[in-house]
Amino acid sequence: MTDLTRREAIGAAAAVALFVPGNALAASPGLDAIGKPRGIRFGTCLGGKGLRDPRYRALVAAQCGLIVPENELKWQAVRPDARSFDFRAADALIAWATSVGLGVRGHTLLWQKTERYPKWLVEHDFGPNPRAEAERLLTGHVSTVAGRYAGVLPSFDVVNEAVDEKTGGLRETVLTAPLGAENVIDLAFRTARAAAPHMQLVYNDYMSWEPGNELHRSGVLKLLEALKKRGTPVDALGIQSHIGAPGQGGGVPFGARDEKAWRHFLDAVTGMGLKLLVTEMDVNDKLLPTDIATRDRAVADYARAFLDSLLVYPQLDTVLFWGISDKYSWLQGLTPRPDGLAKRCCPYGMNYEPRPLRTAVAAALAAAQAR
Ligand code: XIL
Repeated sequence: MTDLTRREAIGAAAAVALFVPGNALAASPGLDAIGKPRGIRFGTCLGGKGLRDPRYRALVAAQCGLIVPENELKWQAVRPDARSFDFRAADALIAWATSVGLGVRGHTLLWQKTERYPKWLVEHDFGPNPRAEAERLLTGHVSTVAGRYAGVLPSFDVVNEAVDEKTGGLRETVLTAPLGAENVIDLAFRTARAAAPHMQLVYNDYMSWEPGNELHRSGVLKLLEALKKRGTPVDALGIQSHIGAPGQGGGVPFGARDEKAWRHFLDAVTGMGLKLLVTEMDVNDKLLPTDIATRDRAVADYARAFLDSLLVYPQLDTVLFWGISDKYSWLQGLTPRPDGLAKRCCPYGMNYEPRPLRTAVAAALAAAQAR
């Protein structure tokens, strides 16, 4: 056997080994197993492509304790029109997760951005009584979806991205026009609580610690304070955590500038009695240099600092990445690198190999206090 063919054979054997959860290539113990004794669950989003890929599935099963459907529970997927519901894609993900002993959480009952509403909803004829029709559509949707998954999904992102980061105010949509933006959010949470009394109800958004997020953070705080004041049932804040490594938008290493403001924000949120979740983490390396070692180091160090800043809060018990490997990451298509190379934004690479980012996440979980 030549060296090349031997290397190929070893590569093929390693690829086959990935079918076995907990194998050396995937890195053992898994990230969820590291978090578990500390009371922290680790997981990822999962979509149709990942579900159809046996190597991706094996990696998720080996590393995670929890998944969240990437798109399959959104209106876009569940609501072909104003009358019907289609749960097939979501149910396929839930069935697989359950079969391998993974938990599932829900995302999202209302993605409060017009461009994320299905086309039929944006063009919907709200008739002579638009207020009643908007309320009927919204509460019908939330009670059907939350009710269907009560007892199945213990936690759900009820409202996603309702705060406009440019103004700190609430976004307007075809539903807020007749109902008012505050009312829409209240209705979503109240309806979810009524349909699924034991479900953890989460407000989820992408405010971050980075420069430029001040208005977004204060807008989210204002919203959460108002919800609490009105007695709206919200249990937790989901911190999406789509962070950008330094060099990304002129970012500086965590701790240099904005750490104080970030802590102030997290103190205020937890001070309201809310729990915290990291719901969609990935590290955008769009503007980092081409050199792989440099990129991987910067991504890993930045993620470690970010996770450390959050894991000091005992209120945080869930860390989810938006993709366990770079392979199906939404960042690949969203904001391509100027050099055209693939992003290295997830704990595992294109060939499911563990990255320095994976080591950094493992170390952050291992260093966390038990909660
Ligand atoms: C993204 C998915 O990853 C993409 O496949 C889809 O095309 C658009 O949505 N914030 C969220 C997630 O709350 O739902 C988004 O997911 C990423 C940003």
